[in-house]
Amino acid sequence: MSHKVLMLPGDHVGPEIVAEADKLLRCLASEFGLAVELEYANLGGCGVDAEGAPLPDSTLALARDSDAALLGAVGGPEWDYIERDKRPERGLLAIRAALGLFANLRPALLDPELVNASSLRPEVVSGLDILIVRELTGGIYFGQPRGIRTRADGVREGFNTLVYGVDEIERIGRAGFEAARRRDGRLCSVDKANVLESSELWREVMEGLAGEYPDVSLSHMYVDNAAMQLVRDPRQFDVMVTGNLFGDVLSDCAAMLTGSIGMLPSASLDETGRGLYEPVHGSAPDISGQGIANPLATLLSVAMLLRFSLDEGELAQRVERAVARVLADGLRTADLGGGQGQSVGTAAMGDAVVAALRAQAN
Ligand code: NAD
Ligand code: IPM
Ligand code: MN
Repeated sequence: MSHKVLMLPGDHVGPEIVAEADKLLRCLASEFGLAVELEYANLGGCGVDAEGAPLPDSTLALARDSDAALLGAVGGPEWDYIERDKRPERGLLAIRAALGLFANLRPALLDPELVNASSLRPEVVSGLDILIVRELTGGIYFGQPRGIRTRADGVREGFNTLVYGVDEIERIGRAGFEAARRRDGRLCSVDKANVLESSELWREVMEGLAGEYPDVSLSHMYVDNAAMQLVRDPRQFDVMVTGNLFGDVLSDCAAMLTGSIGMLPSASLDETGRGLYEPVHGSAPDISGQGIANPLATLLSVAMLLRFSLDEGELAQRVERAVARVLADGLRTADLGGGQGQSVGTAAMGDAVVAALRAQAN
């Protein structure tokens, strides 16, 4: 039976990088027998422009009917000041919530070839392999009440609510413990329990789960210290589990350690393993239309899609090997420090990965 994959290119560089994922998936189909059907739909600003909503009903219906979805990125300055419910980012949050994608896995892996592209010194960062498990459908991103109102003294104020139920903490905690169990067995839970009640409960629940995972060693760290430790000595971490907002910030930070935000893939999973896969970076409006965005985070997201949602672990490895191959061959997009006249564009990078994949078939 054929797998259905929904492609959601989104906005700005989104369509440019998803075009490379399309080439990759078609190569996997023609050369390696992957049975896959690709469908396309709008999410983000393109949905607003074409169908009047950042998450059109038709897109959500197609997503529900698919085995997995691949997103480029959404957003851009042209939609920043429209009605709040129509903003592209709301569409992304809505699809995550509607599909119950509570577990966001963001692996930060430094390819040995990119040691010199990292913002940290090689002796601090080489061999980096950490996984951030970010809670994705709760916390301050979704808590009620929220809004902008006018105080009695006439001054306007913006407000949000940071709330986590024990059920939400438990399921993301389990995702963290399970991931650590499959890796080096070390889980660091990141919170702000010295200030926030929601974090106090978070810590209590993590401690409660620890007894069920005797093979995993659990530690706790405050988020401010965690940000500092990530740039001081990132290899001390194996798996980090944290809430929605802290995970958003820490994963961009971890991304840069791997050479570029253009390298970090992610998987957003529900209870059953169905998922939405997306690069960690945004729509990069500052470089869109130039054909220079790094497509590797998206191609590595395809690898995660193959592994987690299509049960095609061997093909996932092939994609990862093909990416490693082109980096070893010296190909660099501009963000990886391609250097003057030496960098390749989005399509050339995608073509090289496809060629390296094809070479594995012969
Ligand atoms: P961004 O990640 O889009 O860009 C930050 C910087 O990194 C920019 O200088 C950009 O050029 C660079 N960059 C990002 N991806 C790159 C790539 N693949 N190759 C080379 N360089 C890359 O973050 P931002 O500028 O804060 O946000 C821009 C828009 O994207 C906003 O509308 C924001 O809401 C949206 N956004 C969307 C997602 C998503 O769809 N998942 C994630 C983050 C931000
Ligand atoms: C991400 C993005 C999104 C988030 C935005 C665009 C809603 O920054 O996927 O990291 O904050 O979750
Ligand atoms: Mn982010």
